[in-house]
Amino acid sequence: MTNIFNSSIGKKLIMSITGIFLMLFLLVHLTVNLMLMVGDGELFNRAAHFMGTNPAVKVIEPLLAIGFVFHIFYATYITLQNQRRRPIRYSTSAFNEVTTWPAKNMYILGLTIFIFLIIHLTNFFWKIRFGTVETITYGNESMPNIYALVSGLFINYWWYGVLYIVGAIALGLHLSHGFWSAFQTLGMNGTKWIKRLETLAYIYAILIGTGFSMIPIYFFLF
Ligand code: HEM
Repeated sequence: MTNIFNSSIGKKLIMSITGIFLMLFLLVHLTVNLMLMVGDGELFNRAAHFMGTNPAVKVIEPLLAIGFVFHIFYATYITLQNQRRRPIRYSTSAFNEVTTWPAKNMYILGLTIFIFLIIHLTNFFWKIRFGTVETITYGNESMPNIYALVSGLFINYWWYGVLYIVGAIALGLHLSHGFWSAFQTLGMNGTKWIKRLETLAYIYAILIGTGFSMIPIYFFLF
């Protein structure tokens, strides 16, 4: 029996399932991050503290890391395999799904997001978990002042703001094809679904791209 991890539909399935999981994570992450722009930071700090201490989130975190590893590993594998099999670049026939710029550049966009992610995790995740972050007390509850960490980075280093905007644009473009493609792999590929998914993919990609970009712009302007 062909192993699911080696068959080509198996690889596409893993890409789409891990992709949908990462897309859900991004929605939650963006919702919490948008609180950075509300009030003096208490709402964001409390939400980040809840996410950092909630047992359910603690279970999901390693799954998220595994999701990223699988998604990146299979993307690299499929891209290398396609390059070996297809020395001539994609054609753009009406029946070929690979017609848009993001669709043709999914791997390079993914690589850009990966580089962004390494810098991003070093900026925040690593410092919060393994470094020292100042604490703040609300009532009788103390927690790390992640608001101060994030706002400090964007206010003091404008080029980090630029980097985060570039990362968000790459992410938006990657998702404009990835969203649609993930659901198509799961069987939603009738003519009716393709149009709906295309529209939903653009809405989702614009929401994520502009949502994440707005945060450094907010700290730059206010
Ligand atoms: C303005 C944009 C963003 C801000 C301000 C931001 C902020 C943060 C902060 C403060 C943390 C640490 C949370 C903690 O450990 O308590 C974090 C973690 C993380 N971020 Fe972001 N983030 C942004 C964009 C992104 C984007 C675009 C991605 C994905 C491509 C991403 C992926 C992650 C991941 C995977 C983690 C580690 C898991 C976690 O702690 O939730 N972030 N982010």
